[in-house]
Amino acid sequence: LRSEYVIGVTLKVEKRSAAVNEALKTGDIEVIATDIRILSEAETPPFQIEENSQTKDEVRLKYRYLDLRRPDIQKNLMLRSKVAYLMRDFMAKEGFLEIETPMLCKSTPEGARDYLVPSRVHPGEFFALPQSPQLFKQLLMVAGFDRYYQITKCFRDEDLRADRQPEFTQIDLETSFLDEDEIMDITEGMAKQVFKDALNVDLGDFPRMPYSEAMFYYGSDKPDMRINLKFTELTDLMKTEEFKVFRGAADMKGGRVVALRVPNGAKFSRKEIDEYTKFVGIYGAKGLAYIKVNDVSNLSNGEDSGLQSPIVKFLSENALKEIIERTGAQNGDIIFFGADKTKVVNEAIGALRIKVGLEHGKDNGYFVDEWKPLWVVDFPMFEYDEEADRYVAVHHPFTAPKEGHEDLMVSDPANCLARAYDMVLNGWEIGGGSIRIHRADVQEKVFAALKISPEEQQEKFGFLLDNLKFGAPPHGGLAFGLDRLVTLMTGAESIRDVIAFPKTQRAQCLLTNAPNVVDDKQLRELGLRLRQKTVETKEA
Ligand code: AMO
Ligand code: AMP
Repeated sequence: LRSEYVIGVTLKVEKRSAAVNEALKTGDIEVIATDIRILSEAETPPFQIEENSQTKDEVRLKYRYLDLRRPDIQKNLMLRSKVAYLMRDFMAKEGFLEIETPMLCKSTPEGARDYLVPSRVHPGEFFALPQSPQLFKQLLMVAGFDRYYQITKCFRDEDLRADRQPEFTQIDLETSFLDEDEIMDITEGMAKQVFKDALNVDLGDFPRMPYSEAMFYYGSDKPDMRINLKFTELTDLMKTEEFKVFRGAADMKGGRVVALRVPNGAKFSRKEIDEYTKFVGIYGAKGLAYIKVNDVSNLSNGEDSGLQSPIVKFLSENALKEIIERTGAQNGDIIFFGADKTKVVNEAIGALRIKVGLEHGKDNGYFVDEWKPLWVVDFPMFEYDEEADRYVAVHHPFTAPKEGHEDLMVSDPANCLARAYDMVLNGWEIGGGSIRIHRADVQEKVFAALKISPEEQQEKFGFLLDNLKFGAPPHGGLAFGLDRLVTLMTGAESIRDVIAFPKTQRAQCLLTNAPNVVDDKQLRELGLRLRQKTVETKEA
């Protein structure tokens, strides 16, 4: 017999007479075979099938059916199945109806890029695969099903990362007549129940944090609250300093200067700091200024300063004093600085906060190894897209503005808040939802703020605007990302480890070789001809 053979054995199980082998699950029994047959032979597998395999991803995904035999992946998929079961159980008990919605849908603007499916019956026309069941679930509310849910696939053609797949699974739900507190209560209850039943973990009550606070202190709308490090705002202070790097950012429209104090960080080596500098560069930061705090009793900017840094000589003594006071820095700390456009600073220093926190937090007391759930609330309705030169919806264009903020949509879109909420766990957005617009006049206003013309509104969203005119109840909901949730629960590194047949970072299936070139005949039936250039590029 060789490894991976499938065999049939007739045997007797006996209690082991020799010493019990504690190292084996089956160490107290002996099996005595009387007959053995080979049911299926196996060639030598292309890699060792073992837990925590070091095999390259490409090989694993190409032979996914072998990779799936690994005990850790099997455990992941078992937990996934259990979580889905527990969620269905919870939803059914809460009176939610599981209703399926179409996979062949209409392409609509906003959100990510669509996956398109050509229509044979209507040459030149296309379906889009759903990015989420959003519009259909809203129609179900108008139709009078006041509690809907579904575990369903969603498709988004976007750049992939460790927490993103082109097709992924949502636990999608919608309710009529409930407000945001009630919806958050139900979904928080579901998350708690699932953690309790699947992992025997008590998540406790989820704190709530406004979006503005999350961005101000953590530079992120999904802060990892296991890491106890915060930004210190310095923009105001740097408006009167000479140091160009900081002054430039402070004076810039939409610029920001922040400090990140890291306890006990003065011992970081030159090499380590260089690596962090390179790391923030990924997010567009042009450098990473720092001050090592050796002696807070000497805050001069001269040769003998208690602060060790390439930039102290460029800062006034008043600024140094303020920096130490605001950050609360102690001897032995390091303070990092980010100065740039707000978006760059938030992303770069936000990512640095997590990296430093995970690398050094445990040993220096600023990382707690606990589950840290959080609701982020009071999202803005819109954010300015510089490329498109217009506002885009932060959540999606069907999200209702906060009460009293309706007029801001036109007069001051940047300060208009939405009735949206995200569930965040250990720095991952695991769910998001909102109260929707249930009045056609408000919906039209949002489209106008997004610069979607009345003709385009009618063309793309006519069915939505129409149904809102026939008695739509107030409604709202949320969708969990099942893949992300299970990834966190299993401690896996990537959501690929909890999906049986995932796509690669380049949105391919290495097992089946999809996507692939199709026959001319198929194209002709669909009324399609490839542009020469596309074919050449593919071959090149
Ligand atoms: P949203 O776009 O926030 O909301 O998606 C909901 C949740 O789905 C997960 N998710 C993903 N998981 C893996 N790969 C992806 N590419 C991916 N994109 C999203 C996230 C996210 O929190 N219709 C709304 C929900 C609503 O308003 O009710 C929606 O789709 O965990
Ligand atoms: P320079 O004046 O460019 O030599 O930079 C002086 C110090 O500021 C160096 O430590 C740089 O890493 C740092 N630095 C440069 N640009 C930025 C920036 N945008 N944000 C934070 N630090 C920066």
